[in-house]
Amino acid sequence: MGEMKADKGKSILYSAVVDSDEARKAQEAADRAADLPPDQIDIDSMKITQQWEKYTPENHEVWGIIFRKRMEQLKDYGSRVFLDGSKAINLRPDCVPKLSEVNARLKSLTGWGSYGVPGYLPAKSFFAFLAKRQFPTTITVRPMTSMDYLPEPDIIHDVFGHVPLHADPVFADFLQTYGQAALHTNDPHHTERLARLFWFTVEFGLIREDGRVKLYGSGLISSEGEGHHALESPKVDRRPFDMETVCDTAFEIDHYQPILYVLDSFEQLRDAMNTYAERILSAPAGAGAR
Ligand SMILES: [Fe+2]
Repeated sequence: MGEMKADKGKSILYSAVVDSDEARKAQEAADRAADLPPDQIDIDSMKITQQWEKYTPENHEVWGIIFRKRMEQLKDYGSRVFLDGSKAINLRPDCVPKLSEVNARLKSLTGWGSYGVPGYLPAKSFFAFLAKRQFPTTITVRPMTSMDYLPEPDIIHDVFGHVPLHADPVFADFLQTYGQAALHTNDPHHTERLARLFWFTVEFGLIREDGRVKLYGSGLISSEGEGHHALESPKVDRRPFDMETVCDTAFEIDHYQPILYVLDSFEQLRDAMNTYAERILSAPAGAGAR
C-alpha cells in the first residue's frame, strides 16, 4: 500500500498538467494527515491546481474518444441520474473538463465541488473531503496506449465516472453522510464494512429504473468491458441491495465483479446510510478512539 502510494505520487509529479513542487507538497501533506484526528485534517493543503491549458491534444483526444464510446452504451444503459448529472455539469466530448466550470454548476445544484489532488490519499483524508461535500480527483488523463484499462484512477474515472452523480441531491446527501461516518469511526469493523459499501455502490453499483437494470458505479460507467459484463454476463449474481448484506460481502479486485447489488432508488441508499451513520456516530467514543 505504501509502495503503491509512492508510485502514484511519482507518476503524477511528472505529468505536464501538474506543477511538480505543488504536487509533492500536497502529497506530503496528505501522507502526514494519515493519522490525525478528523478536526485536524486540512484538506486544502492536499489540493493541486489543474493547469488546464497544459493538457495536450492527445489528452483531449483520449477524453473525447472514451466519452463518445462510453456514451454509446450509457445512453441506453446508464442510470438516468448519471445521464442527467453529466448534462447538468456540462461534460462534453470536445475537451477535458475544467474543474472550475464543473464546480460552478455543481455549486448551485448540490453544493458539491471537485478538486485536484496529487494521487492516492490516505483513507481518512479522502473521507474528510467527502464529509465537506468535496471530491478529490486525479486530473491526469490516461495515455492513448492504455485506453481500455488503467489500474489507477484518472480524470476519466473520477470526473466522467463519479462526478455526474454529485449533481443529484439525494446521492449528494448520501455521499456526504458516508464521508462523515467513515471519517469519524475508529472501529475497524465499521471501517471494513464501509469500504465494502463504497465498493458495491459508488464504484460498482447498479440501479433499477423503469423495470430495467442500469449502471451508476464509476467502475462500470468508465469501463466498457466491465459495464457490459455487469449487465449481460450470466456469471454475475445481481442481488437486491440490502445494507447489511452488502456490508457483509467481501469484494475482490483485479477481475470482473462476480457479485453486484441493485438499488431500487437512491433514496433507498440515502435512507439506509442515514440509519447506519446514526449508529456509528452515536457510538460512545471509547476503545480505539483516535
Ligand atoms: Fe472510483
